Amino acid sequence: MKLLDLYAKMKSDLDVLEGKLAQSVTSDHSLLSETSTHLLKAGGKRIRPIFVLLSGKFGDYRLDTLEKIAVSLELIHMSSLVHDDVIDNAETRRGQLTVKSKWDNRIAMYTGDYIFAKALITVTELKNPLIHQILSKAMVQMCIGEMEQIRDFFNTGQSVREYLLRIRRKTALLIAVSCQLGAIASGAEWSVANKLYRFGYNFGMAFQIRDDLLDLLGTEKQIGKPPGSDIRQGNITLPVLLALRETGREQLLSELAEIRQSDGAGDTRKALNIIRKSAGIRTSEGLANRYIAKAIHALAELPDIPAKKNLTDITHFASKRNY
Ligand code: IPE
Ligand code: IPE
Ligand code: MG
Ligand code: MG
Ligand code: MG
Repeated sequence: MKLLDLYAKMKSDLDVLEGKLAQSVTSDHSLLSETSTHLLKAGGKRIRPIFVLLSGKFGDYRLDTLEKIAVSLELIHMSSLVHDDVIDNAETRRGQLTVKSKWDNRIAMYTGDYIFAKALITVTELKNPLIHQILSKAMVQMCIGEMEQIRDFFNTGQSVREYLLRIRRKTALLIAVSCQLGAIASGAEWSVANKLYRFGYNFGMAFQIRDDLLDLLGTEKQIGKPPGSDIRQGNITLPVLLALRETGREQLLSELAEIRQSDGAGDTRKALNIIRKSAGIRTSEGLANRYIAKAIHALAELPDIPAKKNLTDITHFASKRNY
């Protein structure tokens, strides 16, 4: 089953969102319009806005309110991707050139800022300071997560706990608040909003572990960028950390040291081979599945409405996703 099939029931509301997203990045300034629509048009899974809408179904579902949260979350996500590609020195994303590669780093920095500002314009149309606060706090955490990652580039001595804390900040919290804010904006009960937050958080942890696995195991066609990008940039992810605990550790360490010295130009094939053969892959999949189980558990406690089934199906899809 494809993600689009899982979204089918939401199609008309999603079409509205796509229109609003395009509208919100369009500007009188042609270069800013061009750079930001470039990433928008490249596609993406739109998982955060979908979660806003589905979570909104647990309260009084009003698209005119929810769309503002959904659009601003996707914009915040997009702005973080434009900046992320500068930090990660990434050439391609969603199968297209990154903004930093099609234009340059300076253009990418302001494109990211611009998209972020558009997110603020959209969400502040809702006169609810709680929503603004929750969103801003998640952004602060994302910045900390990305900073920690820069600090830990090529740090092969980091712990699994540090990795988990980092992905919580850089990815899981934004997905958690997508669910929480959908519930809050539709006036759902607090206990429901909290369970949805818990769902989103656990989903987000599994989502990033899967992303990190795909970077090692996926093909360029599947993931829209060359595999091995993380190790090329020095981003030591869970499977690598675990592989570093096994026999063959010395060889992996020396491959990573060589990649580091080559400053992004090195050959990652040998390192990838060692990691792919290691038990770190299985163990990482196991941990992702544990987060998926926790996410499903959080959903199980929610009222039985059709959105619950949609969220469950998307979660099962995400646990096996290969793009
Ligand atoms: C990519 O997010 C960055 C992570 C947090 C893993 P997505 O996998 O949601 O990216 P798109 O929006 O589908 O391109
Ligand atoms: C997630 O991490 C990025 C953000 C949370 C901004 P990655 O760096 O792994 O994302 P991709 O793989 O480039 O999409
Ligand atoms: Mg990154
Ligand atoms: Mg990246
Ligand atoms: Mg990644």
